Amino acid sequence: MKIDLNQLDDSHFGTSTPDPLRYAFVKKHSAHAGGMSMPVSQQDKESIFQSITSVNEQRTKSRCLYIHIPFCRVRCTFCNFFQNAASRQLVDDYFQALLTEIKQKASLPWTQAGRFNAVYIGGGTPTDLSPVQIEQLGKAIRENFPLTTDCEMTLEGRTNRFSDEMFERALEGGFNRFSFGVQSFDTKVRRSAKRLDDREVVLERVAALSARDEAPIVIDLLYGLPYQTLDVFEQDLIDFLDTGAHGVDLYQLVIGGDAPMLNMVEKGRIPSPASTVDKASMYELGSAFMAKHHIKQLSVNHWARSNRERSQYNSLAKTYAEVLPIGCGAGGNIGGYGVMHHRSLDTYMSAMQKGESTIAMMMKQGPLQEIESAIKAGFDSGIIRRSQLPQFQGHDTFDLLKPVFEVWQRNQLVEVQEDYLVLTLAGSFWAVTLAQAAIQAMNTLVKSTANNKSMGHHRLAG
Ligand SMILES: C[S@@+](CC[C@H](N)C(=O)[O-])C[C@H]1O[C@@H](n2cnc3c(N)ncnc32)[C@H](O)[C@@H]1O
Ligand code: SF4
Repeated sequence: MKIDLNQLDDSHFGTSTPDPLRYAFVKKHSAHAGGMSMPVSQQDKESIFQSITSVNEQRTKSRCLYIHIPFCRVRCTFCNFFQNAASRQLVDDYFQALLTEIKQKASLPWTQAGRFNAVYIGGGTPTDLSPVQIEQLGKAIRENFPLTTDCEMTLEGRTNRFSDEMFERALEGGFNRFSFGVQSFDTKVRRSAKRLDDREVVLERVAALSARDEAPIVIDLLYGLPYQTLDVFEQDLIDFLDTGAHGVDLYQLVIGGDAPMLNMVEKGRIPSPASTVDKASMYELGSAFMAKHHIKQLSVNHWARSNRERSQYNSLAKTYAEVLPIGCGAGGNIGGYGVMHHRSLDTYMSAMQKGESTIAMMMKQGPLQEIESAIKAGFDSGIIRRSQLPQFQGHDTFDLLKPVFEVWQRNQLVEVQEDYLVLTLAGSFWAVTLAQAAIQAMNTLVKSTANNKSMGHHRLAG
């Protein structure tokens, strides 16, 4: 069995160039590498969900819980995650529905059959809940779900209105990790992106929370925003260091969907976001900055300054772990199915009121599901380990992919070692593109084995 390299092209291999960091590929199309899956019909999704959650056993070693809070006070110009403008009444009604769904999902036999290793409250902006609601939410999770003793419970959000009271109540509720979107500390960049608060306010708040040393404080920084030059980005990195935060994500700005920024650029109200070539230079700067300050790299875009920051959810949810989704707009995967909840708040609320399914869409994951997850996790971590790739029809997947790895090595994107594939700086910048290409390469094998089989059947039938 062999991957036919003729079925792949430069969009998979990258071009041979003296500067692969900037020029190996044209641009990154999405934030995540997708996999192959088939939609389940509307009438089947609920019965399938019931059957995969009525089993009294733990299917995978790790499991996570994802709870979505689909509100933000203000929409940032670059963001595709925005769903609803927060108003007290909407948030309060939603919160009640969420508590009901938490109880329902907790009572499923599958839920109680094993422990959850990581819980993530994401959004939107979960910190737009009230302090009391945040404490209640943490307590509801801990009372209803079986959690491991070292379960990581992350609350995502912003520092705006994240008061001392909210921090105390979140800790009281059991949250033990906080992830704040900062994006950039620079006031001009922030204002043009419609971020709340100016530089000094955000700096001071992140520093004060980090100094408490009660739980890891992690921040997200974007690179490539309008007005965010290389110098501004370098100052963002210095600011991160100065705050004493325990970890940082550096995300390449990828504008898509209906994010308002492009319209503003078209109307000449703000300058364009950075080109891919400029973003590659920013990634290079960020990566060198972390190395210079001996900040430990946990993945291609995440760094930790202290052992307190483990980033469990991110590493588990991207691998073999099952993820149980709760709430409007939440997504997960369980029992070999991808599950996506209603994204419209009205539809979700009305489903909850009528006692109907909250699932909008369900996808049956393809035959390569486990291999795809391992590929995505490997590329995200920067190292693909032979031992962590499941076999494909009895063959070693690392060996099957080796011809592709070798082309990448010639294009300076990776270093092929006996049992490991190590991404270079250029490979790390293009990690999602490479993961997608590896998945497509494996899918050519699925297609060719399926074709061989059907030809075999024809021969038998004839
Ligand atoms: C779902 S958001 C929630 C964070 C929180 N609401 C906030 O604004 O601070 C999580 C992270 O996604 C990242 N993000 C949002 N829009 C992005 C884009 N267009 N490209 C890349 N990353 C993006 C940001 O870094 C953000 O902190
Ligand atoms: S970046 Fe955060 S606060 Fe801004 S619109 Fe997106 S989810 Fe909402």
